[in-house]
Amino acid sequence: MKLLLLGANGQVGWELRRSLAPLGELIACDRKLADLSQLQALSALVDRHQPNVIVNAAAYTAVDQAEQEVEQAFLINAEAVGLLAEKARQHDSFLVHYSTDYVFDGEKSGAYLESDAVNPQSIYGKSKLKGEQLIAASGCKHLIFRTSWVFATRGNNFAKTMLKLAAQRDTLQVVADQFGAPTSAELIADVTSLCLQRILTLSQQSMMPDELSETFSGIYHLVAAGEVSWHQYAQYVIEKAISLGFESRIQPQAVQAISTAEFPRPASRPANSVMNASKLSRTFDIHLPDWQCYVDRLLEELSPQF
Ligand SMILES: NC(=O)c1ccc[n+]([C@@H]2O[C@H](COP(=O)([O-])OP(=O)(O)OC[C@H]3O[C@@H](n4cnc5c(N)ncnc54)[C@H](OP(=O)(O)O)[C@@H]3O)[C@@H](O)[C@H]2O)c1
Repeated sequence: MKLLLLGANGQVGWELRRSLAPLGELIACDRKLADLSQLQALSALVDRHQPNVIVNAAAYTAVDQAEQEVEQAFLINAEAVGLLAEKARQHDSFLVHYSTDYVFDGEKSGAYLESDAVNPQSIYGKSKLKGEQLIAASGCKHLIFRTSWVFATRGNNFAKTMLKLAAQRDTLQVVADQFGAPTSAELIADVTSLCLQRILTLSQQSMMPDELSETFSGIYHLVAAGEVSWHQYAQYVIEKAISLGFESRIQPQAVQAISTAEFPRPASRPANSVMNASKLSRTFDIHLPDWQCYVDRLLEELSPQF
């Protein structure tokens, strides 16, 4: 089994290096080894390795900057993804790709299902949706995992920003009218590996491997259980951090709740980013823990007491 991993230095990519390694020969590529904006070189790389599985964790993720860099966002999140899908179809490889809650407009009351209508409100969301559509249109065997509010010990994310700001500032204002599920890169990587193992094992046992792989192909919401606002999330991080001995100039109850309108940003964010992951749980028999489980783990790992 040969696996080609792209975006190996990102939050999710870094964790995939660990979780995919036991599945077979893993070729882990960072941007230097595989730049998704260089389509010819990318195509040649896939042709050279002819992997059984391509896992694409690379993406243009600068959500606000994307409003200015429209072409670049579409090149990496859509065009390059379409090329990977086409290559996967040619080589009969399985393609794993990640997408986002930003494909939704956030107007729904209740958790989003995979079957709900998409309506992205930002360039980033539109470029990620185009990537999803190109994969589906290619006819390759694929898994698209839509996730949200990703965090990890490696990389920049909201939880780490809150830790830094709590140590520096006496006041903190955080948006309280956007809801979602903070999801750990570790969880995403572990679930990816589990799903691949299930599919590959069943394919090897089955008389009809292609049909079986095609049965599993599609979009799955991959998020931790539960939901929270950014404001509640910030309070949780600071409370836990204080209990672990982090320096904090601010108490959790002193974090001020503000509205999205009070904190305007170039790209629009969905007010409701909550996604229902029961299709994933049901199909692959996977348990998705509460978001707090991995946030606790992150803080313990970063803790001065650790
Ligand atoms: N972060 C979130 O909150 C979030 C939420 C929902 C969905 N997602 C999706 O989840 C996936 C993983 O996200 P993440 O949080 O791991 O993102 P990340 O930490 O920003 O990592 C993205 C990686 O992509 C690489 N990259 C960017 N442009 C590239 C290019 N032209 N060629 C090759 N590599 C390139 C970056 O390389 P460098 O290290 O060189 O910059 C980085 O390592 C993405 O598909 C993202 O859209 C993320």
